[in-house]
Amino acid sequence: MSPPNQRRRVLSGIQPTGAGKHLGNYLGAVRHWTALQDEFECFFFMADLHSLTILPDPTELRQQCRKLVAELLAMGVDPAKSTLFAQSHIPEHAELSWVLSCLTGYGEASRMTQFKEKGGGNVGLFNYPILQAADILLYQAHAVPVGEDQRQHLELTRDLGQRFNNRYGETFTVPDPYVQTSAERIKDLQEPTAKMSTSKGGAGVLWVIEDEKQTLKKIKSAVTDTGREVGYDVEEKPGISNLLTILSVATGTPVDDLVGRYEGKGYGDFKADVAEAVLQMFAPVRSRFDELIADPGYLDEVLREGAATAGPVASATMATVRDRIGLLAPA
Ligand code: TRP
Repeated sequence: MSPPNQRRRVLSGIQPTGAGKHLGNYLGAVRHWTALQDEFECFFFMADLHSLTILPDPTELRQQCRKLVAELLAMGVDPAKSTLFAQSHIPEHAELSWVLSCLTGYGEASRMTQFKEKGGGNVGLFNYPILQAADILLYQAHAVPVGEDQRQHLELTRDLGQRFNNRYGETFTVPDPYVQTSAERIKDLQEPTAKMSTSKGGAGVLWVIEDEKQTLKKIKSAVTDTGREVGYDVEEKPGISNLLTILSVATGTPVDDLVGRYEGKGYGDFKADVAEAVLQMFAPVRSRFDELIADPGYLDEVLREGAATAGPVASATMATVRDRIGLLAPA
């Protein structure tokens, strides 16, 4: 239990691989993170070890890592308030992952749906959720903001934390999931029944960092539905409903108010407004990104400072773990 005057600790991670972050990542994850920074002690990290499960090209991985840091800072993660670091800079993640893997049943790991959906693969992919549990338990996080697709990984984290505590004595804080639902609500513009996703890419995905013309074109050519009324109905009008959600979150206006505003107007006016709102929301992020990506020295420095804060927390937990499980301390 933490003393009442200590701020609760929030932790979350995001993988660097892929073309970049998209509107769903921004609205569903990163914007929530930035909102938590004032109230909580936040640890945000780049899950670069998790990215190795897809064996990225080394040159591309390095670029994607710098890009992710610049994107996160541009989207509002503030290193003056939060600790932003690279998972691979803290060796205890991999070390604790090994210890936890010895507490995980083979069947238990096999039941992880993300692994099953990928149809198997390398052992890294199999161990992925155990590394994620290590990421979280290492920092004694109270709450972990993630999307719905990570719920099962968080359940495993809680199970492993409790299992360790029962066997070896209270060591880990067992974290609460803090599942953000809006992440799931942003759909692909071309296939509005599927969620917007990095792996899918294409004309249905709005990247936070892309040319304004691209964004405009994608919104203008978003799939709409038969009929002409701007109305919210996920079953009958998935395309328009998705655009309404985007406009609502981008402008902070409830969907119901928006629907009223477009009564008697066509899809064309509506799409133009969605495009305008998204461009306005992204404009400051994009200009800040351009400055940041031009300054790799600064990006590296942010990660260095992040590791300087995260490292001692991780090594303190790991020292307790080593002792509890009966490893000899090095002389
Ligand atoms: N698996 C998470 C995702 O794909 C990323 C992640 C890795 C993570 N380690 C974590 C998220 C720890 C939260 C906490 O979104």
